[in-house]
Amino acid sequence: MKILGIESSCDETAVGIVEDGYRLVAHAVATQIDIHAAYGGVVPEIAARSHLEAIHPVLHQAFKQAALDWSDIDAIAVTYAPGLSGSLLIGSLTARTLALLHHKPLYPVHHVEAHVYANFITEQSAAFHLALPVAPPQFPFLALIVSGNHTQLVLFHNHGNYELLGQTQDDAVGEAFDKVAKMLGLPYPGGPSVEQFAQNGDPLAYDFPIARLSNPYDFSFSGLKTAVLRTAQREVGKDFRFPSHALSELLTAKQKHDLAASFVHTAVETLISKTEKAFYAFSPLSVVIAGGVAASPPLRKALSDRLPITIDYAPQQLCTDNGVMIAMLGYYRSQIDRPADPYDLEVQPSLSMTSI
Ligand code: KG4
Ligand code: ZN
Repeated sequence: MKILGIESSCDETAVGIVEDGYRLVAHAVATQIDIHAAYGGVVPEIAARSHLEAIHPVLHQAFKQAALDWSDIDAIAVTYAPGLSGSLLIGSLTARTLALLHHKPLYPVHHVEAHVYANFITEQSAAFHLALPVAPPQFPFLALIVSGNHTQLVLFHNHGNYELLGQTQDDAVGEAFDKVAKMLGLPYPGGPSVEQFAQNGDPLAYDFPIARLSNPYDFSFSGLKTAVLRTAQREVGKDFRFPSHALSELLTAKQKHDLAASFVHTAVETLISKTEKAFYAFSPLSVVIAGGVAASPPLRKALSDRLPITIDYAPQQLCTDNGVMIAMLGYYRSQIDRPADPYDLEVQPSLSMTSI
């Protein structure tokens, strides 16, 4: 069975095609990173317009990569939640139209849940050379989901059957990376740029806090982000009124490297300590990380060093937003759900993973 997945919830227009819930056959992505970098973050109106321009070329590219046509596709999956409403609409209207036009069943999928399914891809067609996991995760498994908008620990009992153990009470970890990048004058997206900068810094130069919360599996990153800001202001001899965007001109290179390294160290320690706690409390058979921040080498290294099981990581290209993960979840949903009515599929910009 071949599923085509369409993703347009944020700043990537992407189409993936998978076969039978484990084999990747097409992976086409048009990223808007360069467009939004000029503004230091995603501008929703620009994102929606860019999706509209990119969706047809990206669909075409996916079919070309796979050497397939519509007669080979058995179903369509699309992100319907959560995300920017204008952006979600472009993907969902495209998917609805294609489902009607080509008489294909349509499966709406949740973007955050779909990130986890990048970890189920264990084979690829000859055109790809990704370093894939050798085996899929075993149920029950623990998923640490870390993206620009989400930070949560979820215990998956089976496909479509999961339990939210904890989540961020304020900023997502990716958002914290993006905001710290802005303070240090580094480019968007902040994850890769802060991490690269951190390599030349001392991770113990500054002692940043890890928030203590009543639920041990919940997260909070706004205190860490503010601690980086206050420390940077203090280092340049200014008080809390000094604007964050003007700091990078006054900080020395060493201060910036040390701030980046100490921030990455604390953010990773926060994520790992909670994942470790959940691992010992729930004894899952596998642990996966998912979402854009799962591409992070220091996070991967720390997780592998601290947990007593072997962790198989999805390739970095499948951690950030893509259509393959949407097609993958679409496949598993098609085994347990009925298809949606293409005439009345609504997008749900703020639906969390707990409510489906
Ligand atoms: O999952 P994603 O592509 O989009 C959302 O659904 O949010 O995640 C984007 C986030 C951004 O905050 C970006 O800074 C972060 O993922 N990111 C990384 C890395 N690559 C992307 N964070 C840390 N290390 C990376 N290598
Ligand atoms: Zn995402």
